[in-house]
Amino acid sequence: MKNRKITFLLLLVASCSLIAQGEKDLPAYKDAKRSVEERVSDLMSRMTLEEKVMQLNQYTLGRNDNANNMADPVNDIPPAIGSLIYFSSNGDLRNRVQKRAMEETRLGIPIIFGYDVIHGYRTTYPISLAQACSWNPQLVEQACAVAAQEARMSGVDWTFSPMIDVARDARWGRVAEGYGEDPYANAVFAAASVKGYQGTDLASGKNVAACLKHYIGYGASEAGRDYVYTEISGQTLWDTYMLPYEEGVKAGAATLMSSFNDISGTPGSANHYTLTEVLKERWGHDGFVVSDWGSIEQLRPQGVAKDKKEAALKAFTAGVEMDMMNRSYDNHLGELVKEGKVSEALLNDAVKRVLRVKFRLGLFDNPYTPQTTEKERFLFPQSLKIAEQLAEESIVLLKNENNTLPLKNVSKMAVVGPMAKSQWHLLGSWRAQGNADDAVSLFAGLENEFKGKAQLSFAAGCDFDGDDKSGFDEAKKIAAQSDVVILCLGEKAQWSGENASRSTIALPQIQEDLVEELKALGKPVILLLSSGRPLELNRLDKISDAMLQVWQPGIAGGNPIAGIVAGRINPSGKLSMTFPYSTGQIPIYYNHRQSARPHQGKYQDIPSTPLYDFAHGLSYTTYTYGDLKPSTLTIKKGDKLSIEIPVTNVGGIDGLETVHWFVFDPVSTISRPVKELKHFEKQMIKKGETKVFKFDIDPLKDLGFINADGKRFLESGDYYIIVKDKKVKVTLVD
Ligand code: GLC
Repeated sequence: MKNRKITFLLLLVASCSLIAQGEKDLPAYKDAKRSVEERVSDLMSRMTLEEKVMQLNQYTLGRNDNANNMADPVNDIPPAIGSLIYFSSNGDLRNRVQKRAMEETRLGIPIIFGYDVIHGYRTTYPISLAQACSWNPQLVEQACAVAAQEARMSGVDWTFSPMIDVARDARWGRVAEGYGEDPYANAVFAAASVKGYQGTDLASGKNVAACLKHYIGYGASEAGRDYVYTEISGQTLWDTYMLPYEEGVKAGAATLMSSFNDISGTPGSANHYTLTEVLKERWGHDGFVVSDWGSIEQLRPQGVAKDKKEAALKAFTAGVEMDMMNRSYDNHLGELVKEGKVSEALLNDAVKRVLRVKFRLGLFDNPYTPQTTEKERFLFPQSLKIAEQLAEESIVLLKNENNTLPLKNVSKMAVVGPMAKSQWHLLGSWRAQGNADDAVSLFAGLENEFKGKAQLSFAAGCDFDGDDKSGFDEAKKIAAQSDVVILCLGEKAQWSGENASRSTIALPQIQEDLVEELKALGKPVILLLSSGRPLELNRLDKISDAMLQVWQPGIAGGNPIAGIVAGRINPSGKLSMTFPYSTGQIPIYYNHRQSARPHQGKYQDIPSTPLYDFAHGLSYTTYTYGDLKPSTLTIKKGDKLSIEIPVTNVGGIDGLETVHWFVFDPVSTISRPVKELKHFEKQMIKKGETKVFKFDIDPLKDLGFINADGKRFLESGDYYIIVKDKKVKVTLVD
């Protein structure tokens, strides 16, 4: 017995010393107990120039239907590649390629897999422009958290989202991807998205690294065309475009994506001022910047690089750490370092930034995606609930003549239009792994809502465009036999998104003609409009009784939309982007500068005001706004100020109401917009109830402005705080 004990003890000591020896031999970068910075430094000390350069390249992996970015053949992918865009919908292929990186390379550095998860991964939410109309950042954060979990469990570590390009021109198809025309709104939703995607632990296996894009000013694309020049002064760069990125960086965004657009002569992907002086030196961002697809080699056609090598030099020294599908860094960066044109220090800093994000994601310790079934990772009931809630709160009641809505005493309903039974187009652009079969169509939603209450008939009437009116008669026939006509119209999903500019934001003539012909029957006409951008509706506004902007609501829009038509749901959405009277007014946005002659300079042929303003949105109830109550009317610099306003629901139905707080400074060293959104708050107000909304003002942040050097300043004088048509003057004294 004694001998056995001794043997056991000897074995124990031997195995402990082996483990200790093993741990001692374990390179620091592989030791999960070490800090990220220790592991980064240790790994850097072991890497060759070639290994460093490969970390700064991104190719693609998996089947992809997007003609804009096709995938590389798997065997062409070097195992030491830093990153891949991953198009498959499960972790299998990713794990196979990851295994080669971990086992067939000298240092076993994991690949980081990125993908465009913009408004959901498989559970597809409304497009971001619609989400902003909910004015519910908490809900958007929840949706991003679900998207992150579905993505990470499917092999994606990093999403190229949120897109936070302030919108200036609805002809530009990419307005669909951002949060509208206001800098502050884009900033709030940027922070909410980053928190949703990244959570509190990037290594949790349920979160993904975020990517603020497209840095910067892409929304200023001339005439709404894509990939073109943007005229952005230093002043406009700071007072319109920088805030969402600053707030996204403050929220901890791991990465950014440099933009295609030429920013007043220096393209976004070669712009040292934005990419290094502001992002790294002023804001201290310690993650990395990935180029947009091809945006480095595009420096050549943009006229600032003679070849790919010079493009690589310009982009890298400006501050773009990773090359997305340019084949510029892999082919030229090593050479540029050897020639002394790129310093080792700059190369090392770039590689450290990429490795830092990989360590924070836990990729060195858990490089593989656990195997799960689709049922185990997609379309959870709670996820669908969030999708339905977000769709519900994104829908905007634009018009409701004589309270046509909600429908009352309707026994026969004609549902007409090309959008009525479409599932595909409701998912919009950048749908990731969204599946149209999961979508509840507008017609299906109405069927669900009015089952046993009304008889529905359907006719497409026409296609989205073209001139075939052969379906009009059938549409007119069912309309004549019905009490009300619900027209489901709008845009195809591919009419917005990337490389999807349109010369007019009006719907195709055939859709307007269909409305005209049905209106002539004398029945109430309700329009359900699905689009990826604001539309030109001045003619339809005249002939419709009610209009609901349902955007591209994702997979769960059909039921809440029908709930609003039926009155089960009280609409609460408010526009995140102005609806122009016509395309000819563009650019038109609420936060414009004052005119030298406010009462002159108007169009001769059309109104000069929009059809529907920013923050417009009707409800089935009525809210009365009391007086603005400031805590003081005079403040000194450094003081705080708060303002309250009571809002009463005097109607017969509970409702969610968003109060938007604007600031106006009539006299400033730098001219300022006629209104600037600085705060918003959404509350449920039950019928008959009064709720107080409050704005705690930080004078420098909320009353001050920013100059062309990005310096915030606050000047004494009068300021107006504005809510709807109410305003109060507060005076700031030195
Ligand atoms: C595209 C888009 C960008 C996207 C990237 C990867 O060209 O501009 O938003 O993230 O390529 O798909």
